[in-house]
Amino acid sequence: MEEKNIRPVCQHNPAIDCPCPKDCPRHGKCCQCVAHHREHGNLPICLRGLVNKAKTYSEIVSARYSCKKYTSEQISKEQLDAILEAGRLAPTAKNLQEQHVYVLQSEPALAKIDANTPCRYGAPTCLVVAFNKNNVFTYPGGKRTSGVEDATIVATHMILAAKSVGVDSCWINFVDPDKLAKDLDLPEDEEILMIMDLGYAAEGVGPLDNHFNRKPLEDTVTYL
Ligand SMILES: Cc1cc2nc3c(=O)[nH]c(=O)nc-3n(C[C@H](O)[C@H](O)[C@H](O)COP(=O)(O)O)c2cc1C
Repeated sequence: MEEKNIRPVCQHNPAIDCPCPKDCPRHGKCCQCVAHHREHGNLPICLRGLVNKAKTYSEIVSARYSCKKYTSEQISKEQLDAILEAGRLAPTAKNLQEQHVYVLQSEPALAKIDANTPCRYGAPTCLVVAFNKNNVFTYPGGKRTSGVEDATIVATHMILAAKSVGVDSCWINFVDPDKLAKDLDLPEDEEILMIMDLGYAAEGVGPLDNHFNRKPLEDTVTYL
């Protein structure tokens, strides 16, 4: 295998520079790319470096992945506040701000998540992102309203903010939103968009293959 071009800029992701303090067992100095380290079997070390050091927008976007096993360690209040604040700053249609974010950390609350989906993966914090379906903007044409869109923007702000403060996450929609809303006793006028698992990745856990499987831009972008 050709090994000489992996430093200092990673062949998989030129946007990522070198945040990891550990050396790659195969190549000496670490090239810092999650995809690269995954190939060489030392992902957990290097992912941790990446998680803690991802600061620019492109680093944060590259470092986020769907974490499917967490430690029991709770995230800090500062981290949670930063995540919630990022949601608060999200834009919404007509500035309606119809989102409602629920923070679930207690045992009984998390048990309700577990009763509704197998996808908490041990996360010690779950956010449930909902919106007030009676306070949405109806677009011209009358077919669509802003609720799902606005709540999705809020959730996306928060999931990227999580990575920026070193918190792992997963977007969950394998759930019956009406049943969960009932179990959580949410107001009648609120609809659940998604659950967001938040916590720290368990030892040895990293992105699944899907994370590295993205279509080329030519497949999804058209210049008109
Ligand atoms: C709208 C949405 C719903 C998802 N629902 C689930 C889910 O219910 N359970 C789960 O384990 N992962 C879920 N995921 C994670 C996706 O499977 C994952 O984002 C995708 O495979 C790409 O991997 P990556 O996030 O690691 O880059 C969801 C992601 C999105 C964006």
